[in-house]
Amino acid sequence: MSERVHTPPGPPVVGNVPKLTDDPLRFFVGLQEAYGGRYPLVRLDPPVGQSFVVVLDAELVHDVLGDRDRFARPALGPEEQRRQGLLSSDGVLWEQQRSVLQPEFVGGKLSEYADITADTLSETVGDWPAEGRLDLHEELSTVTMRVITRSLFSRDTEPAQARAVHEALGQLSDEVEPSVTDVLLPESLQPGPSETFQEADAVIDGVASEFVEWHREQANPPADMITALMDAQDDPEVELSENELVDEAVLFLTGGQETTALTITYAFYWLSNHPEMRERVAAEAAAVLDGTEPAWEDLSELTYTERVVRETLRLTPAVWNVTREVRQPTTLAGTELDAEDLLFMPTYSHHRDSRIWSDPLSFRPDRWDGEVSRSEDAYFPFGSGPRICIGQQIALTEAQFTLAHVLQQYDVTVDADELDLQPSVTLRPTDPVYATITERPTPVPE
Ligand code: HEM
Repeated sequence: MSERVHTPPGPPVVGNVPKLTDDPLRFFVGLQEAYGGRYPLVRLDPPVGQSFVVVLDAELVHDVLGDRDRFARPALGPEEQRRQGLLSSDGVLWEQQRSVLQPEFVGGKLSEYADITADTLSETVGDWPAEGRLDLHEELSTVTMRVITRSLFSRDTEPAQARAVHEALGQLSDEVEPSVTDVLLPESLQPGPSETFQEADAVIDGVASEFVEWHREQANPPADMITALMDAQDDPEVELSENELVDEAVLFLTGGQETTALTITYAFYWLSNHPEMRERVAAEAAAVLDGTEPAWEDLSELTYTERVVRETLRLTPAVWNVTREVRQPTTLAGTELDAEDLLFMPTYSHHRDSRIWSDPLSFRPDRWDGEVSRSEDAYFPFGSGPRICIGQQIALTEAQFTLAHVLQQYDVTVDADELDLQPSVTLRPTDPVYATITERPTPVPE
């Protein structure tokens, strides 16, 4: 083995496993600090299960993510493993799905989705009391789910459906032990789905099937993501089964809404810890929006809000680790890798690397005014390369709009001083996140 892979020391027999399973986030940050800059790769050899390699060099992360021929994206977590969708597919199927879906995520579609986001926010926030306490994470999950279903499936979500999906997602993630080795290893090393998992999965499947069924019943279905997939089924070049259509809807319902709801929840959390920054977002919103709902053209003017979102994704990236599997024996940074070796690229620890970021643990949105070029490689909240997140612009728009729209009307303070985070497939809070809201006085007209 090359000298450029380092196996860190640990107690004999159990290797590095206790630290890793006790607190994976701290473990990866520790690895990055101890060995980053000196070793591009670190190999971890747990006594049970597969060894894996952590990529510490940020440029190398982009090389790996840019190279689909040598490195495959394994399906992670029970939902992805059961379903064939853009998120979980590989090879020709992935290429076909990406080219069918890409047009749904560009140009005029994005401004349509922005309008839908603004309307959804107005309806939701319009129902809030002048003062009160909310389950913020649940409330935002409902918003992001409605935005996804209205934008991509042309259907609104009933409140009961949104609640059922939020609950089912909670059950699914409770099922998954908060251990990296359980969540991020391939199917063959994971326990089979339990009864609770199957019940929760059936709830989400039921909701997704209803959306697909509704499209089938329409003589002229709307030009949206499901219709694009149905049209592709008629193309003899494309292999897309009926089940895969429902699978795709499930994966967008789960992956697309949860990551975004988490990001916005974390942004409110960070702003609660920094009231002066929250006031800056509120002041920017008042100046740009002037009491109206946000529009697509406002996005580029909500500059401070954008920095807040970027900084939130740096310190609390909803997808905290990106994983790849080596297809064939190969060499990376002078190191020999075997087929099926797993590569971990922990976004969370790259985003906190003190060699890259000044004062890395502090929430400082204004760093995005100057530090960007230095940190370009080390910042990848949406991944990189051909499999970069297809929904990133939807997510960024939703996050900026939500912060601006809500904070121009309400003061929002997350109750907890600190959030306990569980690194599952996504980085989730272990407990519900409650917030206290207080309506701001309406400015007196001059
Ligand atoms: C802040 C919110 C979001 C974050 C942090 C996020 C993060 C990511 C990351 C890191 C990847 C790459 C995974 C890899 O390479 O292994 C990814 C892929 C993906 N994301 Fe997102 N995402 C977000 C929102 C969304 C939204 C709103 C949608 C859908 C509307 C979406 C749909 C997808 C899909 C389908 C893929 C797979 C793309 C492919 O493999 O071609 N994501 N996301």
